[in-house]
Amino acid sequence: MVRYFLFLLVLITILVVSIAGLRDYSFLPHKTKRPPIEIFPDMVRQPKVKAQAPSDFYADGRGARSHVDGTVPVGYSAPEASVQASEGVATMGSPYSVVVFSGKQDYADTGKIGTNWGNGLPFTATLATLERGRERYQIQCAVCHGATGAGNGIATKYGLVGVASLHQQRLRDMTDGEIYNTIVNGKNTMLGYGAGIQVPDRWAIVAYIRALQLSQNATINDVPVTERAALTGTNAASGTTAPPKP
Ligand code: HEC
Repeated sequence: MVRYFLFLLVLITILVVSIAGLRDYSFLPHKTKRPPIEIFPDMVRQPKVKAQAPSDFYADGRGARSHVDGTVPVGYSAPEASVQASEGVATMGSPYSVVVFSGKQDYADTGKIGTNWGNGLPFTATLATLERGRERYQIQCAVCHGATGAGNGIATKYGLVGVASLHQQRLRDMTDGEIYNTIVNGKNTMLGYGAGIQVPDRWAIVAYIRALQLSQNATINDVPVTERAALTGTNAASGTTAPPKP
């Protein structure tokens, strides 16, 4: 019985080795250029191009392809019409007229002037800018920072800790450029959101954050003189006094 078992074992071993084993093992005398039979290939070989590898799929033999003309990097805006006309790039449209995709290291793209953070928007903010900023803020930021920026968004109710309140004095004093950079590249435990937010929208969010900060930290002196009476004075019609603004 044992003899038959041993005989069978040797036979099977020879069979398996001769099918699967003796291929392309350079230390063996019997060499072949064919790859070994793979019983469990585990997706080792795939019909894909590895980085920098050649490919005979394309006529020029290169695996890596250069980008299509007119490609705009993720997170950047399409060039404006004036730029397009001179550079012959296809029109893609943008709601803003001042900021263009430059691909340069200028203030609008980096938030920096030279080596310092800059202050101010690179375009003139209008009511539409703030409305756009509010919309983008509510989509991209409110989930963590909360609708008012107090750092109490819904994610904090599910265990996210350490979300900054945007109403700290440090962040009120922070330059627009540095906040812009936080949106793009993140800060400490906050990830960057630059890939999902175009340049003008990032600045619109900065503008809206300024509005939020003002909304939580304003004095009567921020109200135009002509409108202060309505906030502090006696309401003649009802005879009640409106609560003074903090
Ligand atoms: C996934 C949650 C999350 C989202 C979404 C998020 N943040 Fe934050 N943010 C954080 C956390 C956490 C911190 C605190 C980071 C730290 O200091 O460790 C922070 C910090 C900040 C700060 C302060 C950075 C500093 O200098 O201390 C600013 C400004 C800020 N976020 C703005 C934004 C804006 C604008 C958006 C939307 C584009 C946004 N965040 C989206 C979690 C988030």
